[in-house]
Amino acid sequence: MKSFVVALLAPALAVANPIGIISDGDVPSPNDISIISATASGNGCPQGTVTTNISPDRTVLTFGFDAFQTYIGPGTVMADRSKNCQLHLNLKYPGGFQFAVVESTYHGYAQLEEGITGTFYSTYYFSQDAAATTTTQTSIQGGGIWETGDVYTKQDQVPTASVIWSPCGATGILNVNNRIALTSSNSSASGQISDDDATVAFTQQIHVSWQPCK
Ligand SMILES: *[C@@H]1O[C@H](CO)[C@@H](O)[C@H](O)[C@H]1NC(C)=O
Repeated sequence: MKSFVVALLAPALAVANPIGIISDGDVPSPNDISIISATASGNGCPQGTVTTNISPDRTVLTFGFDAFQTYIGPGTVMADRSKNCQLHLNLKYPGGFQFAVVESTYHGYAQLEEGITGTFYSTYYFSQDAAATTTTQTSIQGGGIWETGDVYTKQDQVPTASVIWSPCGATGILNVNNRIALTSSNSSASGQISDDDATVAFTQQIHVSWQPCK
């Protein structure tokens, strides 16, 4: 099977007080940003349709979705055309300066006749600074290989930086609002897109701590 891969390097998203300078050549600390817990909400992920798995080192989180599916065309209703599922990650930050890349990968299935366009939006923001958002977007035009259906992959890389002044660190919530929307220029054409899973990982972590937690 062919798969469709789009990699996006989004503009930097800052958490807390961003600074541009990494200090003094300290050895990176093993105390990475870690995922304490996670939930999901939205009409694309009603209760009982989501599974979550956190890696033993608590830096990678995988969601599985059973109901994140959109449909358009004869026999469908307006409400089928757009679904969203917002991911909420409760994070623990070590004290000090922290830089990390939030890397997300989404897998799903798309089957779109000519005239149908499907768009997958992901908006990243921290609850502490909800006005600072980064949105990535991937579109698939129907027809061609999508006429008969195929799997797709969407990949995002969102750099983040934070300064946590508390020596013992702090907690924060990263939200990722995922939305799939279908549009049509031909009322007799049909299509569907699902998102079957999402993996959110904190990669390339650089941590410079200037004050150990006692
Ligand atoms: C509209 O879609 C139907 C079903 O795929 C197709 O048979 C028809 O040719 C399309 N019409 C146009 C104008 O593209």
